[in-house]
Amino acid sequence: MKTLSFTFIITFVTATKVALSIFPSKVKSRPYLDELLKKFTVIGGNASEELAKKIAKKLNAVYLKSNLRIFPDGEGKITINGKPKKGKIIVVQSTYPPVDSHLIQALSLISKAKQYSSNVIAVIPYFGYARQDREFLPGEIVTMDVIAKLFKALGLSKVIVVDIHSKIALDHFKIPSENVSAMPQLVNYFKKLRLKEPLVVSPDLGGALRAKEFAKLFGTSYVALKKQRNRKTGKVQIRSSNLNEVKGRDLIIVDDMISTGGSIIKATEFLKKQKCNRVFVACTHALLREDAEKKIKKYGVSKIVSANTIPGNTAVVDVSGIIAKAIV
Ligand code: R5P
Repeated sequence: MKTLSFTFIITFVTATKVALSIFPSKVKSRPYLDELLKKFTVIGGNASEELAKKIAKKLNAVYLKSNLRIFPDGEGKITINGKPKKGKIIVVQSTYPPVDSHLIQALSLISKAKQYSSNVIAVIPYFGYARQDREFLPGEIVTMDVIAKLFKALGLSKVIVVDIHSKIALDHFKIPSENVSAMPQLVNYFKKLRLKEPLVVSPDLGGALRAKEFAKLFGTSYVALKKQRNRKTGKVQIRSSNLNEVKGRDLIIVDDMISTGGSIIKATEFLKKQKCNRVFVACTHALLREDAEKKIKKYGVSKIVSANTIPGNTAVVDVSGIIAKAIV
């Protein structure tokens, strides 16, 4: 029976291919044939539907949507819409707030995908918990390490992230992992703006390399501010001394993420005191919690530009292409 249906499919595909080559516009079953020829399946988690669809399109993969239902007790129930192909399966799910819910959904989707294929890749464009990559204060749990262990236990083939907070966070994975950078895409966006003597600024020394990469691609120089964060209260302060080089220039503050906006606000306050011209912000992950966007604008930032690792108003830079490249 199996051999018969397999022979039928092969005959059908061959006949349709021949028909397509002779009468390309007359054959109506092209979409069906396209589906048959697709090798990968992309499953879009609830947090990353639009990005997952774009990745699937770039890979010419089957796209499967997932459905989420939340029970009155807060538990989520996830279902995938359809059956994945046996080949490579890619699960796409960012873990922005609600972080824990999005994380458990990602783990559940990966576990389901493993029932269909031995080759499952997780794409976690924004990886929550990456800032908890080491024990800063005694007794703290390195949650990034806990999550990395869960990913390994599920039998993933690879994890792909975008501009993860630190290399240390990525090193917790004991499976193949890859960090792709959205900086070239962000630079392309800024190249289209008419900026006056642009200068790139990192709000802290930890982000200096990122700012350096951005500045190199943009064709300008960079400076890194000295930021200090109180580990108990989370409050930030800028400890830099006067910076004459920012005077009268348009600045692009480059960061991996904006959460409360505290870092950007403190940096902007400092830079405005140095008599800079306009301040722009380029970041990969714009979490923009509560009224962070409003507050940042109030402090004089002209524009915030982010990637679509997290959907939102500022997410105008598409990273589906660089993610698709890392998958194949
Ligand atoms: C810190 O090292 C990060 O790169 C970001 O600057 C920081 O996490 C942003 O958080 P917030 O917007 O709350 O200051």
